[in-house]
Amino acid sequence: MAKEKVVLAYSGGLDTSVIVKWLQEKYDYEIVAVTADVGQGDTELEGLEEKAIRTGASQIFIEDIREELVTDYIFPMVRSGAVYEGKYLLGTAIARPVIGKRLVEIAEQVGAKAIAHGATGKGNDQVRFEFAIKALNPYLKIIAPWREWDLQSRSDCIEYARKNNIPIPVTAEKPYSIDRNLWHISFEGGILEDPAREPDRDMFRLTCDPLDAPDDPEEITISWEKGNPYALNDKKLTPLELVMELNRIAGKHGIGRIDLVENRLLGMKSRGVYETPGGTILAFAHRELEHYTLDRETYHYKEAIALKYAELIYYGLWFTPLREALDGFINATQETVSGRIKLKLYKGNIVVAGRESPHTLYHQGMATFEADELFDQKDAQGFINLYGLPLTIKGLMKQKNIADHQQEVAKS
Ligand code: ARG
Repeated sequence: MAKEKVVLAYSGGLDTSVIVKWLQEKYDYEIVAVTADVGQGDTELEGLEEKAIRTGASQIFIEDIREELVTDYIFPMVRSGAVYEGKYLLGTAIARPVIGKRLVEIAEQVGAKAIAHGATGKGNDQVRFEFAIKALNPYLKIIAPWREWDLQSRSDCIEYARKNNIPIPVTAEKPYSIDRNLWHISFEGGILEDPAREPDRDMFRLTCDPLDAPDDPEEITISWEKGNPYALNDKKLTPLELVMELNRIAGKHGIGRIDLVENRLLGMKSRGVYETPGGTILAFAHRELEHYTLDRETYHYKEAIALKYAELIYYGLWFTPLREALDGFINATQETVSGRIKLKLYKGNIVVAGRESPHTLYHQGMATFEADELFDQKDAQGFINLYGLPLTIKGLMKQKNIADHQQEVAKS
């Protein structure tokens, strides 16, 4: 009888290599490896096929999901304005649902009964993968070896690999836990576990040190249509091309480094350092365009929605009715978020250098300090009287209390 199949989220690193062997031993599964190309770079993808087969997988799917990640996940996130805890641009979190979705699709395609992943039992990623799988196909069994086996650490993993003749990738001795895709790179663990320490200079990969960035600012213009960026310096680009090009430019100017102690979903705080070069520029420019085009109440309300949207992404709650409902709101707000934002990039900084939009609500005649016919300053008097009525009443009560008190003191 043919063996049951398991789909394994496979990166080719030490952990997932060990998992291949462990799954065979423990469950006697046939292993179908799946690697999602989310823009982690050629060095990570090189030789994967051979490695997977040599390690014991029966086949491997290498799936390029970059366009889907940018268009259907990252851009909606940009439109929402989501930033987790004021800093984190959610680079790892946003990629997990789409990877999970593809794992489910392949599991269904090859008739697998289970999906396995190499996320540890302490992190957010296990939750994100598994929420996606549960939402899309709850019949699939989920196997998370890190929560099951006796291996406790990387060194246990290396030992297991040696014992079982699993080729140990040269990157086994890595000083950080790294996750990279086309939007960002994250570093955790190692010396970063001490929040009092700044990261080593040579850790960074996508951005230069702002101290070493060019002495001349660079001017760029990003064009937007309904909250989606579509051109750089008036040249039309696909979403993927745009992000890649912005990564290059921002990286050159040392833009997009983030160092933060964040609250994980499982309750503990952890320290992470991120590089999100292009993303930092896009988030900045989008906000700038919204300042220019959205009415006050929508903008303020949307800020609250952005906080919730960031939580949903961070918590892995992408495939939920709430996220879809929020998208309805967000998309409605983006109808007029079109135009061009000009920026200057300089040594880690982004400075706005110009805005243009056919939909702006900015009215020079309204804001000007010069005399004008549209606005009668006398109207402001009534506005202040009525809008300030609660303050006036409260103030009167306070005064009355004081007067009463003084009367009492005088009497005694
Ligand atoms: N702390 C970030 C997050 O939860 C980054 C996680 C990085 N994951 C990893 N497997 N290295 O989104």
